[in-house]
Amino acid sequence: MAYYHRLGRIPRKRHIQFRNHAGRLYQKELVGTQGFSGVSSLVYHLYPPTIVKEKGEPYSVEPEIAISKNLSAMSFQGFHLPYADDYLESRKTLFVNNDLHVGLAAPHSGTKDYFFKNADADELLFIHKGHGYVETMYGQIPFQYGDYLVIPRGTIYRIHFLSNQNRLLITESFSPIRIPRRYCNQSGQLLEHAPFCERDFKLPQDLETHDEHGDFLVKIKKQGMIYPYVYGTHPFDVVGWDGQHYPWGISIFDFEPITGRIHMPPPIHQQFEADGFVTCSFVPRLYDYHPQAIPAPYHHSNIDSDEILYYVDGDFMSRNNIRKGQLTLHPGGIPHGPHPGAIERSIGKTATEELAVMIDPFRPVQITKAAMELEVEDYYKSWLEEPGPVLQN
Ligand SMILES: [Fe+2]
Repeated sequence: MAYYHRLGRIPRKRHIQFRNHAGRLYQKELVGTQGFSGVSSLVYHLYPPTIVKEKGEPYSVEPEIAISKNLSAMSFQGFHLPYADDYLESRKTLFVNNDLHVGLAAPHSGTKDYFFKNADADELLFIHKGHGYVETMYGQIPFQYGDYLVIPRGTIYRIHFLSNQNRLLITESFSPIRIPRRYCNQSGQLLEHAPFCERDFKLPQDLETHDEHGDFLVKIKKQGMIYPYVYGTHPFDVVGWDGQHYPWGISIFDFEPITGRIHMPPPIHQQFEADGFVTCSFVPRLYDYHPQAIPAPYHHSNIDSDEILYYVDGDFMSRNNIRKGQLTLHPGGIPHGPHPGAIERSIGKTATEELAVMIDPFRPVQITKAAMELEVEDYYKSWLEEPGPVLQN
């Protein structure tokens, strides 16, 4: 996150003595990325962040691959993923490659009696159903329907849901998730043409300092394993921090769409970038206004990029029979395009209410067994179908 933020108390200069009223030194931690060359934050703890009391038995959460090589258009009913009580238990990975994992979660509740840390990947949580707040050592971020939460790797967090039926789309990125570079000036400030700006950011707030000793279970994800670590002090014992490495959020409803007289291609919908993929937000917007405009997209051959679409709400213009929470996977190598009737149907329309998240991995994804349990059979033949109802739920 190229945006400086600070909360709590910090010393006037970095790397100098910083003591409490009793004269005891606070314990400084540099949380850095990409060695010492990426974004970082300086965090001031009450106690060293290194007090490990116990290590539990690690266990695997490695996704099981069902299809390692794919050239078929596929679809999956995300809302068919059954609810589970626990946040981590409910997370299921659907698509994987070396740059990212894409999955879903349907938890009734959050991380009740443990903390979680993803040591491998930045996490991008998209909240489709539910509301609550994420708690970290950097402060708290409330979330609701339509929010993206970016939780950089190494961030210990707890997630609390204030609702019972929650659904999330989760991307794990093995490189930092960034704001698209082309939206920013040389200093990292968002330019006037960007579809969102700094005022839309949901930054950590309400820093609480927990001065507690005990047994604090942190489930650490690394290399497809969960390592249960028990620490002797509360992970959120921070009195202050500053820097550019911290979790943040932004609502898809704050994405201001860019429209034109004729069809605008997907890059105008871009929300995030990382090494090896982009994420786009398709939001309600006015349609193209050339008198002969065709608002539906043209058929396109994404020769060297897979395309994952997650349908959130509204009447998705290019697809027939699409439900909320449904995913499509259109692999690189073959063309795809609007469903039968969708092009004609779009002509003359002035606006769309579609809401969707698109993830374009630049390298092919593998499909997991968990995904196959949600598969819509014979989706690849759906361009043979007659036009049907556009959205059923
Ligand atoms: Fe596409």
